[in-house]
Amino acid sequence: MKKQQDASDPKNGTEERFSKTGFILAAIGSSVGLGNMWKFPYITGKHGGAAFFLLFIVCLIIVGLPVLLAEMVIGRGGRGNASTSFYNLTGKKVWAAFGLFAVLTAFMIMSYYAVVAGWTLHYTVQSLTGLLFEPGADYKSKFLDFAGSYTPLFWQAVVTVVCGSVLAKGVSGGIEKFNKILIPGFLIILIVLMFRALTLPGASEGVAFFLKPDFSKLDAESALIALGHAFFSLSLGMGCMLTYGSYVDKRQSLGSATLAIGFGDLVYALIAGLVIFPTVFSFGLEPGEGVGLAFMALPAAFSKMYLGSVFGGLFFALLAIAALTSAVSILEVPVAFAMERWGWSRSKSSVYVSAVCFLVGIPSALSVGGVLGGFTPGGKSIFDWVDFVTAYIAMPFGGLVVTLFTGYAWKKAGEEAGLSGFWYKAWMIALRFVAPVLILLIFLYSVGLLKV
Ligand code: PFF
Repeated sequence: MKKQQDASDPKNGTEERFSKTGFILAAIGSSVGLGNMWKFPYITGKHGGAAFFLLFIVCLIIVGLPVLLAEMVIGRGGRGNASTSFYNLTGKKVWAAFGLFAVLTAFMIMSYYAVVAGWTLHYTVQSLTGLLFEPGADYKSKFLDFAGSYTPLFWQAVVTVVCGSVLAKGVSGGIEKFNKILIPGFLIILIVLMFRALTLPGASEGVAFFLKPDFSKLDAESALIALGHAFFSLSLGMGCMLTYGSYVDKRQSLGSATLAIGFGDLVYALIAGLVIFPTVFSFGLEPGEGVGLAFMALPAAFSKMYLGSVFGGLFFALLAIAALTSAVSILEVPVAFAMERWGWSRSKSSVYVSAVCFLVGIPSALSVGGVLGGFTPGGKSIFDWVDFVTAYIAMPFGGLVVTLFTGYAWKKAGEEAGLSGFWYKAWMIALRFVAPVLILLIFLYSVGLLKV
């Protein structure tokens, strides 16, 4: 039967669209990334376990979900890219300029995210072939030797080609299919690893570190960290959910989608913690966050485990999937922009944007101990600078634009979101007052202007 067309949607039938579940999976694919795997578990363990987890849920509800809904609503209402959607809804150029800033942010994030995603692919292959593990190896220097060589460029190129090819195939044939295959696969691997981890001797110590509630550890700093992470984890502030939202059918409920994405993000983060800490603690290693945890501590644990190269391979494959499904969503922001701005076909835009992004990312790839490693203006490498400016300055700014636009400038947001009465009021309070103030606080804290 032919699907009913929505007459209120001017571009209906002529544009690319997600299916209902395809959209939810793609959005979960975007939100579940390295943040869930190597940052969330650690900050939870460090800041009071289950107590922090509850705080994180509160932040997700009062800031994360309202902004997520706002981004998707702007995309679907504006039916354009991360810049033109704002303009289509208000006819004001200044908003399009703010949106353009989000497109640039996404482009810059992708330039170094592809480098990290490349590391995960290298480690997957190294682990499965057994090359990663040597008795008594020092995994820290092993990682630094690798990151300082030219090999990461090869893997960065692989990531770029994979993401570019997925995007060239379009929204339903590319992005949706990619996530439909990888996200369930991701969950299966995660559950297998969780069982392995929880049955290791001494696993309970890791579970206790991760989840034992300690309300005495909650303070203003943990609140800001929880807020910042809620924001990053839901992929907000750089036009990503906005661009995905522009491919959503008018009949899909964005309110329910928001809840599903938030819930999915939480569940994946929770299971990731139940994989990581039992493994790390069982082998008497120090937990940490980021690069140190994934590429230095965990290989040491897998090297001592029975069938370690298989479990290690699965773990790095997990990281690779998390990174790739997020990377695709990030790259789609500039690809969609270039298609509309320059009238390019999807394939042309995917190839050109990916290629330029790869070139722009080369200095980041070579600055983690590589030939550019010694170049550290202001005490930070190029890689760290790109990360710092995008994640701590540009993303909060993008988030602020979204809240102010939906809360004050665009009057029909409630209609597009399908909200009225109590829920509309609550959403507006979040967007007009709560979220902007809290985003501003995270920003000031992140750049060191607010000490708590
Ligand atoms: N949400 C991803 C994570 O938690 O790792 C990171 C991310 C993806 C941020 C996509 C922004 C984005 F647009």
